[in-house]
Amino acid sequence: MSPFLLTRTLPVDATEASLRADVLAGLSRRPRTLPPKWFYDTRGSELFEEITRLPEYYPTRAEREILVAHAADIATASGARTLIELGSGSSEKTRHLLDALPRLHSYVPVDVSESALTGAAEALLAERPELNVHALIADFTGGLALPGTPGPRLVAFLGGTIGNLLPEERATFLRSVRSILSPGDALLLGTDLVKEPATLVAAYDDASGVTAAFNKNVLEVVNRALDADFDPADFDHVARWDSDAEWIEMRLRARSALTVKIHELDLVVSFEEGEELRTEVSAKFRRDRVREELGDAGLRLDQWWTDTAGRFAVSLATAV
Ligand code: SAH
Ligand code: AVI
Repeated sequence: MSPFLLTRTLPVDATEASLRADVLAGLSRRPRTLPPKWFYDTRGSELFEEITRLPEYYPTRAEREILVAHAADIATASGARTLIELGSGSSEKTRHLLDALPRLHSYVPVDVSESALTGAAEALLAERPELNVHALIADFTGGLALPGTPGPRLVAFLGGTIGNLLPEERATFLRSVRSILSPGDALLLGTDLVKEPATLVAAYDDASGVTAAFNKNVLEVVNRALDADFDPADFDHVARWDSDAEWIEMRLRARSALTVKIHELDLVVSFEEGEELRTEVSAKFRRDRVREELGDAGLRLDQWWTDTAGRFAVSLATAV
């Protein structure tokens, strides 16, 4: 059986230092914001997996359809010996790529969620004992120290997670991906597409309330890590389509005027009744925008595939 290596490139306390900095910056100014990477503790990762199975949440099914239809094309185009996956989560859809890559030597899933990484690696190795899995607990926005596995390398960033980065963060992120691509390497990118607002809003405000629980979970993360006293019941889940920015915003809206103490930061935060805390943007794309943003980072869009309903796209790009 191949070894499963779990490497932490984030020191345990760096995660907390980074959360402290984000909470301090995001809650001490208005409008109040928190970055979405803090959703994904063990519970948050479980809730995300539940979201992927909701009838309203089409992106996972749409992207899987594309991967099933084009895994062989991706394998032929990339010839990858190492598959690096950023924000890999459960690696569930990735199985279609792993099965299609005949020369694959190593799989390198990268995620901030240790529970997601260990769960994914255990499940994969149970089915594919010959696979080398080198899992990295790391923030993909923080520069990547990748293991010395053989090329060509395919860097996959699936699920539409690129849409959770703000435009400037996306530009920096894509440049950092470009900087780790050698000749012959490629980027496989999943992007959700602009569509009817009603479909989008339903995907982020499902009838069974799973997305609301996912959204509120970030308050539990802050409570536990920084000894804060958020009561999730004091907030309503809000999902709104911003037609100018072409993104969904998830927010938490205070049901009444309230005060929260964040003891570890010596910080008291007041919310007015109806005041909103933005917890996530989920940008939706058009082909031209993907091409342009890749181009700005020194990447060329080589292939563009969508599902049959045209809801989601997967593209393959290489360094210019
Ligand atoms: N790719 C999977 C999971 C998407 S959920 C899919 O398509 O279903 C987003 C994943 O990205 C989560 O597992 C989360 O923990 C991870 N993530 C979010 N922000 C991150 C960051 N800054 N660095 C590393 N991982 C991150
Ligand atoms: C991980 N990411 C692409 C998801 C999305 O659709 O933006 C996170 C999510 N937020 C609410 N539902 C799902």
